[in-house]
Amino acid sequence: MRVLLVAPPGAGKGTQAARMEARYGIRHISSGDLLRAEIAAGTDVGRVAKSFVDAGDLVPDDLIMSIVSGPVLEAVANGGYILDGYPRTVAQAEAAYVVAEPRGADAQVVLSFAVDDTELLRRMAARAAAEGRADDTDEVIRHRIEVYHSVTEPLLDHYDGRGIHHRIDATGTPDEVTAAVFAVLDPLR
Ligand code: AP5
Ligand code: MG
Repeated sequence: MRVLLVAPPGAGKGTQAARMEARYGIRHISSGDLLRAEIAAGTDVGRVAKSFVDAGDLVPDDLIMSIVSGPVLEAVANGGYILDGYPRTVAQAEAAYVVAEPRGADAQVVLSFAVDDTELLRRMAARAAAEGRADDTDEVIRHRIEVYHSVTEPLLDHYDGRGIHHRIDATGTPDEVTAAVFAVLDPLR
């Protein structure tokens, strides 16, 4: 199973992906987690990425592609992936498709999580207190939400055009959202 999660900051991508990974036995790959690991390790990629991530801006397309494609192809060889946070622009989706399609690695299903901005701010404020992510300040959270609406949300039309997008209402409790996700994915097992 090869699944993409497209959703705004704080919508619950990481939360739901962990449950999907446990149920279906396929790897959760978070582009944000990969970037934070590079930054923490002080690699060349991490040094370039840090200023973008800290400001809530998208890192350059070639940089994100360079760190995501290896784990994705490895996951495909082991039954599939839940890809959280990539692609994030139409240009990234088009570039990924060119690489993935000939390898049988392109997405089968795209889940988007719909949550209004007020609830996103509430969820991320709660997480900021617990986790202390550098990009979870009030100003940067608001900017990340703007970036989502301007450059990531148009991806949903792109995947509607390919007929693989399912919209999930993600305003309920985590368990309610999980039930809606499993209802879409269980038949694909
Ligand atoms: P990334 O790490 O992907 O961050 P994000 O998209 O901003 O999303 P979050 O991780 O903040 O939220 P989430 O949806 O995972 O929610 P969570 O489950 O934690 O990206 C970070 C940065 O990396 C980007 O800004 C960019 O700079 C860079 N980047 C990444 N990918 C890139 C790409 N492709 N191209 C370029 N740059 C890229 O939930 C949030 C909180 O809410 C948690 O506390 C959780 O417990 C709680 N919660 C979850 N579900 C519910 C619920 N149903 N009800 C109540 N609370 C809930
Ligand atoms: Mg996340």
